[in-house]
Amino acid sequence: MKYDEFYVESIRDPKGFWKRQAQNLIWDDFPTEILREAPHGGSHWFADGRLNMSYLCIDRHLEAGHGDQVAIYYDSPVTQVKANITYQQLKDEVSKLAGGLKELGLEKGDTAIVYMPMIPQAIYAMLACAHLGVIHSVVFGGFAPHELAIRIDDCRPKVIITASNGVEISKIIPYKPFVDEAIGLAKHKTERVIIFDRKQGVHIPKMDYDVDYETLVNTSESVGPVSVESTHPLYILYTSGTTGTPKGIVRDTGGYATALKASMNYVYGVEEGDVYWAASDVGWVVGHSYIVYGPLLNRNTTILFEGKPIKTPDASTFWRIISEYRVKVMFTAPTAIRAIKKEDPEGFLLKKYDLSCLQYQFLAGERCDVATLKWTQEKLGIPVIDHWWQTESGWPMLANMVGVELQAVKPGSAGFPVHGYDVQIMDEDGNFCDVGEEGFVSVKLPLPPGCLLDVWQNTERFVAGYLKKFPGYYFSGDGGYRDEAGYVYITGRVDDIINVAGHRLSTAEMEEVVASHPAIAECAVFGIHCELKGQKPLGLAVLKSGTKISSRDLEEEIIHKVRREIGAVASFKQLLVVNRLPKTRSGKILRKLLRNIADKKEYPIPSTIDDVAIIDEVKAVYRTKNIGKFKKETL
Ligand code: COA
Ligand code: AMP
Repeated sequence: MKYDEFYVESIRDPKGFWKRQAQNLIWDDFPTEILREAPHGGSHWFADGRLNMSYLCIDRHLEAGHGDQVAIYYDSPVTQVKANITYQQLKDEVSKLAGGLKELGLEKGDTAIVYMPMIPQAIYAMLACAHLGVIHSVVFGGFAPHELAIRIDDCRPKVIITASNGVEISKIIPYKPFVDEAIGLAKHKTERVIIFDRKQGVHIPKMDYDVDYETLVNTSESVGPVSVESTHPLYILYTSGTTGTPKGIVRDTGGYATALKASMNYVYGVEEGDVYWAASDVGWVVGHSYIVYGPLLNRNTTILFEGKPIKTPDASTFWRIISEYRVKVMFTAPTAIRAIKKEDPEGFLLKKYDLSCLQYQFLAGERCDVATLKWTQEKLGIPVIDHWWQTESGWPMLANMVGVELQAVKPGSAGFPVHGYDVQIMDEDGNFCDVGEEGFVSVKLPLPPGCLLDVWQNTERFVAGYLKKFPGYYFSGDGGYRDEAGYVYITGRVDDIINVAGHRLSTAEMEEVVASHPAIAECAVFGIHCELKGQKPLGLAVLKSGTKISSRDLEEEIIHKVRREIGAVASFKQLLVVNRLPKTRSGKILRKLLRNIADKKEYPIPSTIDDVAIIDEVKAVYRTKNIGKFKKETL
């Protein structure tokens, strides 16, 4: 198949194209209406169709005689536990947990938060919700109680499903005290907390609302899947926006199932029965789409890995897993590869394993630097594919579609538009950019199936954030350009969102936390280059006059505060005290200028700056504190 023909067809006749893809699922009612414009200007796919996601991920495969196939390889180097879970076992676990949720009064349209480490019960919980039409919202374990409380108040769950603890390398992280604290902080009162006890000796504080996971499952009857409309929300996934409050991306059921199923084959080149591994976390969109729903929809064997690319126990873990489970296609973030490369630059560990099973290595989640891509290519000797997407899209928007036609890999580029995405680069005025000219990466409406349906309980934010900037187009928030051969290059966010180790975080949110310290008059938080994590946050603060606190004490307090209020995952480690911040004459802090100076990037001096002399002051502070590219010795 030729990519050009395939892609053009998806844009020329989206309804016909996606109707054919939808036929690869089993529907309770096949849609008669393929595409409808939604009142907010977005799209509703397959609106009058009915189906159930959990049925498609499990029961469908049992009916076709694949109950004995392994659905999940669970591999936890941090606890030394491994398990092979077949599709039949998955069915038993999910339908009984769904029965338990039903007994607790949950029904279609209710919401449930899943706050869990990377254990099979996290997947059971997601699928059990999908089974009943309960809308789940998975919250990444690295977020602090305050962040969890924000999500509780926004999605108002009936239950929270959690576990006794997570394990971070060798550190035990108790989850239940976090959940209790979050419930205490939230205005919304969650009815029940279901706790899976991992029996790792962690004390679980008892509360009236507690329900033991195992008792619930053991005392409940299995229930069957509930048929839902195609546009019924499968989940809400919170992601960082440009304001301090995260936004709840709402995903539909039918469009998402159709898009994911098709992507497994066309984008990733996997067939039913293959082993596919996305080394991410169920708390991120990659986990939702490519640890859980995508591979299970496609009857693949997915890998649930509870560990890190290094230190669990060393930089060979990824290679062991690929070899042990005969992984055909793997997906990870460039940060993970950089971490491995740092520990094992020559790739000696990799040579100890038979990796002949691996056909493609995919990378995404952050910009992939050329050195990392080339190292991976050289060491693995297979196509290494950078591809680009977001929580909002739910599945890839740019890629080298290996299942359609593998094209030459151009390091630095995330490839070509994926079927269904009419990707355009626009300038500030909404005109198309020329070849090589950097602009805003946008997608002509309608977006294909699987993309965000709305922002939970906040359609205004959906319209303002994505549809308003360029009428008729979805605005991605990323900058980029296209070369003469059509390859697209993503240059980074054009807003206050940063990407730390492939984790999307809002500097505006961190800035709010820093600014709330009583000693601070004003501050700026922005992302600077980090050789390992891609980016890391840096804070600059001006003290209130008369404040006595030392810079070092203040820094410690702020680091602790960000950790307490956002979470360890923010990786906020540095705060510099300065006399003043660069501003425009109208008083706007020039964060981009601060970032560009730290990264030693070329920058125009804004004509609106109120005092040019401050640039030298900033450089002097960076030099003294070894900041960014002013650091004498980088990693
Ligand atoms: N629960 C609790 N805490 C968590 C957590 C979780 N699920 N995930 C991360 N954290 C904590 C870590 O323990 C660490 O805490 P510390 O400051 O006390 O050490 C902090 O959050 C930062 O974690 P992380 O970003 O993972 O950094 P690290 O230094 O522990 O590890 C890497 C560095 C490169 C190995 C790691 O970032 C990594 O594996 N990156 C790849 C990530 C990835 O796959 N992203 C894909 C998203 S698509
Ligand atoms: P998230 O919503 O957490 O998946 O983060 C999405 C953001 O990560 C995008 O908007 C990009 O800024 C960035 N991103 C993801 N993949 C890539 C990639 N392949 N190249 C460059 N940036 C990427």
